[in-house]
Amino acid sequence: MVSSFVALALSIIYLNHSCNAKNLPSILPEKNGLVANSWRLLQNSEYEKDNLFCLSNGCVKVAASLINNMDQSVDPCDDFYQFACGNFIKNSILEDNEKLRGTLSLIAKKIENQRRMIVNEPIQPDELRPFKMIKLQFKSCMDQEKIEKIGLGPMKEMLKSLGGWPLLEAENWDESKFTWMDSLNSFKEMGLKINYLLKISITPDFKNRTKAAIFLDQASLGLQNQHLVQGRDYRAVDKYYRYMVDISVLFGADRQRATEELRESLDFEIELAKISIPPEEASDYLKTYNPMNITFLQQKFPSIPWQEFLNKLLNQFIRQDDIIIVSSLEYFSGLEALLSKTPKRVQANYMMWRSVDDAVKCLTGELRQIKQTFETLVFGTIEVPRWKECADLSFELFNTAIGSMYVRRYINENTKNNALEIVNDIRKEFYKMLLSNEWMDDETRKSAMDKAKLILANDIAYPDELLDDGKLNSYYENLEVNDQDIYTSVLNLTKFSTDYEFSKLRKPVNKLDWVYNSGVVPVLNAFYNPQGNSILFTASMLQELSFSNDVPRYMVYSSIGSIIGHEITHGFDNSGRKFDMHGNLANWWQEETNKRFLEKEKCFIKQYDNYTIDGHKLNGTLTLGENISDMGGLKLAYNAYREWVKVHGNEPRLPGLQEYTPQQMFWLSTANVYCSKEDTAVMHFLRKYDGHSLSRFRVIGSFSNLKNFSDDFRCPLGSNMNPTNKCQLW
Ligand SMILES: *[C@@H]1O[C@H](CO)[C@@H](O)[C@H](O)[C@H]1NC(C)=O
Ligand SMILES: *[C@@H]1O[C@H](CO)[C@@H](O)[C@H](O)[C@H]1NC(C)=O
Ligand SMILES: *[C@@H]1O[C@H](CO)[C@@H](O)[C@H](O)[C@H]1NC(C)=O
Ligand SMILES: *[C@@H]1O[C@H](CO)[C@@H](O)[C@H](O)[C@H]1NC(C)=O
Ligand SMILES: *[C@@H]1O[C@H](CO)[C@@H](O)[C@H](O)[C@H]1NC(C)=O
Ligand SMILES: *[C@@H]1O[C@H](CO)[C@@H](O)[C@H](O)[C@H]1NC(C)=O
Ligand SMILES: *[C@@H]1O[C@H](CO)[C@@H](O)[C@H](O)[C@H]1NC(C)=O
Ligand SMILES: [Zn+2]
Repeated sequence: MVSSFVALALSIIYLNHSCNAKNLPSILPEKNGLVANSWRLLQNSEYEKDNLFCLSNGCVKVAASLINNMDQSVDPCDDFYQFACGNFIKNSILEDNEKLRGTLSLIAKKIENQRRMIVNEPIQPDELRPFKMIKLQFKSCMDQEKIEKIGLGPMKEMLKSLGGWPLLEAENWDESKFTWMDSLNSFKEMGLKINYLLKISITPDFKNRTKAAIFLDQASLGLQNQHLVQGRDYRAVDKYYRYMVDISVLFGADRQRATEELRESLDFEIELAKISIPPEEASDYLKTYNPMNITFLQQKFPSIPWQEFLNKLLNQFIRQDDIIIVSSLEYFSGLEALLSKTPKRVQANYMMWRSVDDAVKCLTGELRQIKQTFETLVFGTIEVPRWKECADLSFELFNTAIGSMYVRRYINENTKNNALEIVNDIRKEFYKMLLSNEWMDDETRKSAMDKAKLILANDIAYPDELLDDGKLNSYYENLEVNDQDIYTSVLNLTKFSTDYEFSKLRKPVNKLDWVYNSGVVPVLNAFYNPQGNSILFTASMLQELSFSNDVPRYMVYSSIGSIIGHEITHGFDNSGRKFDMHGNLANWWQEETNKRFLEKEKCFIKQYDNYTIDGHKLNGTLTLGENISDMGGLKLAYNAYREWVKVHGNEPRLPGLQEYTPQQMFWLSTANVYCSKEDTAVMHFLRKYDGHSLSRFRVIGSFSNLKNFSDDFRCPLGSNMNPTNKCQLW
């Protein structure tokens, strides 16, 4: 439901991170020790008029890395990406199994190491209870000896208590005691996942976001949909099958029996994949909005006793005025048909298998090795160190508390206020742009304005609740996690998060859900949430991209500013514009303006469709929303920076780059965020499936649409970076 910015790709540029930075660069030299270099000025009279260079620590480091990455032999008007990133690409060597390396991926690695340090530290006696629990869990995850000693006993016992895994029980399995609905309910009580046949979540009603609705979605599967639908003979599916059998044998199954029974279980899973709708459709709000009441749900899918099932699972009596949103009518009709023809034994084998598969990373080395072998064969993934597996597990399950630890430990107090300041600057530019644009009618313009004004930014960097001991303690009050056994602790946490999810049903919906928003604090990302009409930038990203307090603002407005602008623009891209100022799915576009939007949209699709890489075309439709936002964000950031200069005056240039004006540096710095070297296979995968254009085209595509860019570099009209036809939207 959340629209993300980038999670991939970055370079060595932004080494200059300072935990003590008190402010974003205040660039006025007299305030900030940005000293003019008179020695240079004497030798370069050409630059005298600017009168200063920035020679602070931060400036020297940033300049060095910009210079390292550039290929100044390339004409910036011909290929700006190559000009800014050419040497980075040439000089980066991907290590075995490294899929890509770029400015952003290097920052992501640093953040991952910070997360590791947090969970790995010794417990302090006066620490908050949730923090102690995280460390205990990490410790038990790392304690391989103990994991071996515990073995599969606890898991086997649990399977028994759930009626048993048929292929282990052989003739003793009692079919009469099994229904998939009761099983899902027991799974929930035990702390197992319950998304194996269908997913149930509580979400704001898309069309009235003040109200929580029950969202019924298709199942998550044990192997990617696109593999499963190919059938049992397909290589990845066959490997998955062998993996299933091998694991069940270690649980004590007879190989012959397991081979037979799991074949049927697999066939059932393949059928589930076949009735599922593909991911593109699953993320289309309009297509997946099928609201109904419980009576109607019952009529529509009569073979499932919904009232009884949901009452029990959600521990609430489902009322007529409860809204139930069904993501795909085809899926649930298909599920009814499939369940009615599938023997209970097969259903049970499948559900038990999935819960075993989900547990493997907490079980013995022998099982983990088998899973690793399977993943290497099918996905080419290399074994990750145990610490990473455990740190990722902690983060997945304890993300709110880890977010809190992260902010307390690594984020300096001004990161949030500095970011809010830039957000306000960018927002002002957005208002101006709305007021001056020529293709909107006044009514639509007013609605757009209302929406822009209501975009919530309070949780930027992190929700303040993360610094509130009381809130954190009470959120985790009902959870107990110790270091007895990693598997059981995961059950405790899964149960805790399912209970929390379901408890939202009768509660008023908050636009800012601090628990939800804190889950991403220690990851490198930025979001626009159309349902909350809110933007979110993680603390770690803001801090890493804002450098230290001694670099010019053009370095900051370019990187952070254009990302903030990008996310705000998402509220008005091809998909975000379908939500109104309250975050409700509603049409606020007048007919004529709507037509003009669609016309403008076509320009972008054509432009990006026309780019090729190694002879393969890009997909302009796939990346439309991102393209619109890249371009809008960049424009907003550039304008906001120019406004800043109007108030504070011209900024100094960087050493070694003194031939570039501050405006030119703005473009160079933005492009640097996207410097990235990708493995060829990865590149083609991203080209086909990623909603973001490849880094190269994110830079070339959006820069070449902006006249400010070609003016700043004096690119002749008709050059690659200054085409006659430019796409414009926001
Ligand atoms: C949205 O739901 C609230 C709470 O149930 C209700 O009071 C309000 O009238 C609804 N609004 C719309 C537009 O349906
Ligand atoms: C349930 O929904 C159906 C179809 O929209 C409608 O006809 C019926 O009146 C609703 N029932 C109640 C009790 O609201
Ligand atoms: C799981 O929670 C229960 C209480 O619900 C507690 O007794 C048990 O020790 C916990 N186990 C672990 C491993 O954290
Ligand atoms: C597509 O690319 C070709 C060759 O680069 C160029 O001549 C043409 O004008 C482009 N078309 C559009 C719509 O941008
Ligand atoms: C929009 O997306 C297309 C599809 O890849 C891409 O080629 C194009 O460069 C993007 N436009 C902008 C302005 O980013
Ligand atoms: C481009 O992406 C769209 C949306 O995901 C998809 O429907 C379409 O088939 C893709 N086109 C090509 C040529 O792959
Ligand atoms: C940027 O471009 C716009 C539109 O072409 C123009 O009005 C504005 O003056 C330019 N800004 C600068 C600083 O050149
Ligand atoms: Zn985006």
